[in-house]
Amino acid sequence: MSTAPLPANPDPFPGPQHVAIIMDGNGRWAKARGLPRVAGHRRGADAVRRVIRGAADIGIPVLTLFAFSTENWARPAEEVSDLMGLLRHYLRNELEELHRNGARLRVIGDRERLAADIVRDITDAETRTRANAAIDVNICINYGARDEILRASRSLARKVAAGELAAKDIDESRFESELLTAGLRDPDLLIRTSGEQRISNFLLWQCAYAELVFVDTLWPDFGKEHLERAIAEFRRRERRYGGVGS
Ligand code: FPP
Repeated sequence: MSTAPLPANPDPFPGPQHVAIIMDGNGRWAKARGLPRVAGHRRGADAVRRVIRGAADIGIPVLTLFAFSTENWARPAEEVSDLMGLLRHYLRNELEELHRNGARLRVIGDRERLAADIVRDITDAETRTRANAAIDVNICINYGARDEILRASRSLARKVAAGELAAKDIDESRFESELLTAGLRDPDLLIRTSGEQRISNFLLWQCAYAELVFVDTLWPDFGKEHLERAIAEFRRRERRYGGVGS
C-alpha cells in the first residue's frame, strides 16, 4: 500500500462513506512481546477507542468493527471470557465519550448467546446514542455473515409459506431488509489488519462491491494515520460496479 498523502478533493468528505474493519493480530501482538493473549486484546480495545476518534476526526460517516465472530466461541473459554469482559468494560466505560462525541452506536450480531447484562448494556448504549449524528459506529458482536444470510432466508421463506409475500417479490432490497444491517449503507471500504487476506465470514452480502485493503499492521498498533493511508488507497482505485468506468 502506498503512503502518499491524501489527494486533494473538493467534496466535504470525498472518502468512503462506510469503512468496515476486521481487527486482526491482537494475539500476535501479545506473543511478540511474550505477553498473554488478553494483553493483546486489551491493547486492541485501546486501538478501538483511538480509531473511532480518528474516524470521527477524518469525517468518515459510518464505521463498522468486527469485534467477535460466531466462530470465536471456539476459542479457549478463558479467552472468550476475557473478550466478553473487555466488551462489557468498553460498553460501560466508553459510552460517555462516544455520546459526547456524537457517535451513534449500534451492535450487530445475534444477541441470544450473549450474557444478559451485556445485552442490557447494548440496549442502553443504543438507546442513549440513538439521536447522535456525528458518526455511526457499529460493533459486530457474535456476528457471522452466513448465519445472518440463513436467518434472512428463513424469515423470507416463512413469510412466503404464510402467504404474506410472493417469491417473485424477493429482490435485493427486500432481502436486505431482513439482514442485521437493515437500513445501513453497504461498506465501500473493508480493511483487514495483520497481513491476513481473508474476509472471514464478515458482511459477505454487504461487501459485494467494497474495496478491500489489507494492511500488515497488527490491530493494537493501528491508528488514525493507518486509516488515512487506507482511505488514500481507496481514493486511488477506480470503482466501476461491474460497468466500464468513465
Ligand atoms: C483478532 O485478533 C481480534 C479479535 C478476535 C477480537 C477483537 C477484539 C478487540 C479489538 C478488543 C475488544 C473489542 C472492543 C470493541 C472493545 P486475534 O486474537 O485473532 O489475533 P491473532 O490472529 O494474532 O491471534
